[in-house]
Amino acid sequence: MEVVAPGFPEFVANPRRNAGFSPGNISSRSCRWIHSTRFVRSSVVSSIGARDPEASYETITAEVVESKSVGLLMLNRPQVLNALSEVCMREVVAALKGFDALPEVGAIVISGKGKAFAAGVDIKELKNKTMVDLFVNPVLDQWNQVSRIRKPLIAAVNGYALGGGCELAMMCDIILVGEKAVFGQPEIKIGTIPGMGGTQRLIREVGKSRAMEMILTGERFMDAKEACQRGLASRLIEGTNEELVAEAVAMAKNISGMSRPAVIMAKAAVNAAYESHLEEGVKREQAFFGATFGLEDRSEGMAAFIEKRKPNFQNK
Ligand code: CAA
Repeated sequence: MEVVAPGFPEFVANPRRNAGFSPGNISSRSCRWIHSTRFVRSSVVSSIGARDPEASYETITAEVVESKSVGLLMLNRPQVLNALSEVCMREVVAALKGFDALPEVGAIVISGKGKAFAAGVDIKELKNKTMVDLFVNPVLDQWNQVSRIRKPLIAAVNGYALGGGCELAMMCDIILVGEKAVFGQPEIKIGTIPGMGGTQRLIREVGKSRAMEMILTGERFMDAKEACQRGLASRLIEGTNEELVAEAVAMAKNISGMSRPAVIMAKAAVNAAYESHLEEGVKREQAFFGATFGLEDRSEGMAAFIEKRKPNFQNK
């Protein structure tokens, strides 16, 4: 019998396991988790391993806001500057998948409570791992699922976004920064290198020389202003952390008002530039562009423009 760790989304991810589920064939540990978690009952959600995004979590908070149109996820380990533990990784991925599966939610905001976005992967957990441990169980791989979320992700970054925190922000589609945002990849100073895509994404965001400087010195952090100048972040929001998150939520709500399938296709087409060579990316964009002409929303949007009225998108 397999025992599922509390909060681990695989319980709902694995249809075979679900099919065999009965309260009698699981441990009391699993039972406690099941009783403390409200599941989303839609078959779509249960087939992809999502958790009810508003279930209670240990290391994050997650809620749907703005008339359920926006998913808001806050990293919530302020006492350790939101260091990304394994539980945190599982909870983030499960909540994001939950938001992705909720039809009302059109975009998602990720931010951090307290004075950091996230100061990296939890070094206290990493400390005793061996090369064999990571080879047999490449835990950080699970973070890659963040970049597979289909709805737009907006990171609202204030304070430290270091190591895995910087990498998590870069997995998002848009980064808004507060005045105290600081980006860095200090892994080299603890004898390792970025392990959540930092060496690949940072060079695309800030160019080779600056990326190398950050990764090879582990210092020369990047502040909010420079992040905006270099295009790592799209905008600096002055004011409090709450104002930064409110701006990100307003942007997410705005995106949520667009045609849902058109938004998903636009995100996938832009991301093609990340994942493929120019020629292949342009081909993918053209395929998605053609596909929007199968949408009722595309007809409605163009008709509304010509008739000088607001479009009434049906997400079809
Ligand atoms: N993991 C675990 N705990 C962390 C942490 C991390 N990444 N970052 C901070 N903390 C903890 C500290 O240990 C401290 O806890 P205690 O109060 O129990 O001692 C608490 O958060 C507050 O931190 P500091 O007292 O150090 O705060 P500071 O303001 O003096 O310094 C900081 C802030 C410069 C960010 C410093 O905490 C720091 O250098 N953190 C580590 C940054 C780092 O190396 N990140 C990369 C991690 S490895 C990684 O992410 C791998 C990857 O790419 C996948």
